[in-house]
Amino acid sequence: MIRFQNVTKKYDKHKALDSVNLEIRQGEFISLVGLSGAGKTTLFKVLLGEERAEGGQVLVDDVDIAKLKKSDLPYLRRKIGTVFQDIKLLPKATAFENIAFAMEVCGHTRDKIREEVPKILDLVGLAHKQNSFPDEMSGGEKQRVAIARALSHRPVLLLADEPTGNLDEVNAGEVIDLLLKINELGTTVLLATHAVDLVNKIKRRVVTIEEGKITFQQEQGKYKL
Ligand SMILES: Nc1ncnc2c1ncn2[C@@H]1O[C@H](COP(=O)(O)OP(=O)(O)OP(=O)(O)O)[C@@H](O)[C@H]1O
Ligand SMILES: [Mg+2]
Repeated sequence: MIRFQNVTKKYDKHKALDSVNLEIRQGEFISLVGLSGAGKTTLFKVLLGEERAEGGQVLVDDVDIAKLKKSDLPYLRRKIGTVFQDIKLLPKATAFENIAFAMEVCGHTRDKIREEVPKILDLVGLAHKQNSFPDEMSGGEKQRVAIARALSHRPVLLLADEPTGNLDEVNAGEVIDLLLKINELGTTVLLATHAVDLVNKIKRRVVTIEEGKITFQQEQGKYKL
């Protein structure tokens, strides 16, 4: 589904990504692990077309994203849902409205929104919080709303960049369980994290990045740095 071929991304002379080769197959759950500054977020940005690589190719469904027109980028980004460490919900909107607004921006009809939002909230286990505002929810609940918002576009791939970074262990565990459930329902998941314990519990493919280089890949299992 996605292939990085010798991808290099430089900031000035510094290589944030250095000849990265990575294949992401449909249906996989991949944990991308690496220390701060290793290049995890840069890899996501290149994949979203937010940053352009100087070398190599990023293929999404065999299309080289460097060859996409600017006007095609929104379609790429709709295929790829994103969740970040800082959650960025609209503070004056309820859980329902936060998701509804994202759908509205993408041109969904009111009827569709009214039908879909409760389903997505139910999926993330927050049907009972639909009328709650962000400051009435726990960190984990907010992150689950953000995941619901990302899923509202029915992405084929979900990128989660350190989604548990600001959460305590219990909430972090819930977010990871939710990501696993979403993956079981068919969405490919790429999770960037430094949370060693979590990755070891996930027991799925682990890719390690160090100073912009992919240094270690394992089909199932243990985090190593
Ligand atoms: N906009 C930028 N301008 C210059 N250098 C940058 C920029 N963004 C990232 N870098 C550098 O690129 C390298 C990789 O950064 P990146 O954000 O991808 O790391 P990361 O693995 O996501 O780290 P963290 O775990 O802290 O989020 C770092 O050395 C960083 O300083
Ligand atoms: Mg990062």
